[in-house]
Amino acid sequence: MSSTGSRLRMAVVGAGVMGSYHARVIAQSLRCELVRIVDPDQEAGTRVAERYGTVWHPELAGVADLDALVVASPTEAHAPLVRAALSSDIPVLVEKPVSGELADTEELVALAEARQTPLMCGFVERFNPAILTVRQMIEQPVHVTAVRHSPYAGRIRTGVAWDLLIHDVDGCLRLVADEPVAVRSGLGHFHASSVNGGEDVAEALMVFASGAVASASASRIGQRKIRTISVTELDRTIEVDLLRRDVTVYRHVAHDSPTHDGRGYRQQTIIEIPELVSAQEPLAAQLDHFVDIVAGLGDAKDERESILPAHRVIAQVVR
Ligand SMILES: NC(=O)c1ccc[n+]([C@@H]2O[C@H](COP(=O)([O-])OP(=O)(O)OC[C@H]3O[C@@H](n4cnc5c(N)ncnc54)[C@H](O)[C@@H]3O)[C@@H](O)[C@H]2O)c1
Repeated sequence: MSSTGSRLRMAVVGAGVMGSYHARVIAQSLRCELVRIVDPDQEAGTRVAERYGTVWHPELAGVADLDALVVASPTEAHAPLVRAALSSDIPVLVEKPVSGELADTEELVALAEARQTPLMCGFVERFNPAILTVRQMIEQPVHVTAVRHSPYAGRIRTGVAWDLLIHDVDGCLRLVADEPVAVRSGLGHFHASSVNGGEDVAEALMVFASGAVASASASRIGQRKIRTISVTELDRTIEVDLLRRDVTVYRHVAHDSPTHDGRGYRQQTIIEIPELVSAQEPLAAQLDHFVDIVAGLGDAKDERESILPAHRVIAQVVR
């Protein structure tokens, strides 16, 4: 921690969309000090640095003055930055995916373990209040379906499996509390502007040892943004809208027909709307969790070991 008190001295690498969000929550946190923004693009770097009252550097020259680093550069640039910080025993919060190559992620997780230096991946949906609420409610999910569809975004160079599907695969694994014994997948390449063979649609079907089944669907050729997860247990279905951050529980009571001649469908269902367990912005909650881990108040081993499962599934999906 810093000599100016108990604030964690942090830098953000990458001043794009996610980097500017990270810079904001760090600058707003009473537990952190934003000491610099690193980005090869001077305009992007100085814009974010000035907005949050810090300085810009074109490259991560050294990390000796830092307590922790946030890596939010494009995915292709993550591995050398994370490696450099961990090798100097600087804890890292790196955006998802850690890398588009499973071998890189495995190496970096092993490096974090060898150096006993915290490594956390930015699976920000873990901190969505609706997801936190569902995780507290569930007992034995048997069927999970997740949908993450968006209008076209050409910036996703890795394709949607590593970029979008990984959030929901991670969500499915954590809801079922296991890794799948079988993964099936389908990829679709459609858009003329998609570069590097990046897929526009990715579907994953996961089967677990318990018999539970989960499916996750990601697309960047939708016509509207959809972020939903449905979790079914034998006596209820919990539906989550991640955008609206709302949770609804459905219990079927009975069904029949609205008319005597049996046409149409009438259903009786009990609906419950639970109180959410948190109202904190997910990115700020994620930062708090990271600061806890760096301060020795959170479980660094548990966090590190939670990184690879979703990366392993996505590597199977794109294989
Ligand atoms: N958690 C989420 O929900 C979420 C959402 C979007 C993106 N992301 C992840 O965040 C990362 C960044 O995505 P983005 O959408 O913010 O990208 P972006 O293109 O908006 O920004 C990337 C920034 O990094 C800079 N940059 C390029 N090479 C660099 C290097 N070697 N070192 C430092 N900076 C460099 C660029 O100049 C740019 O300013 C990706 O890994 C992406 O997968 C996560």
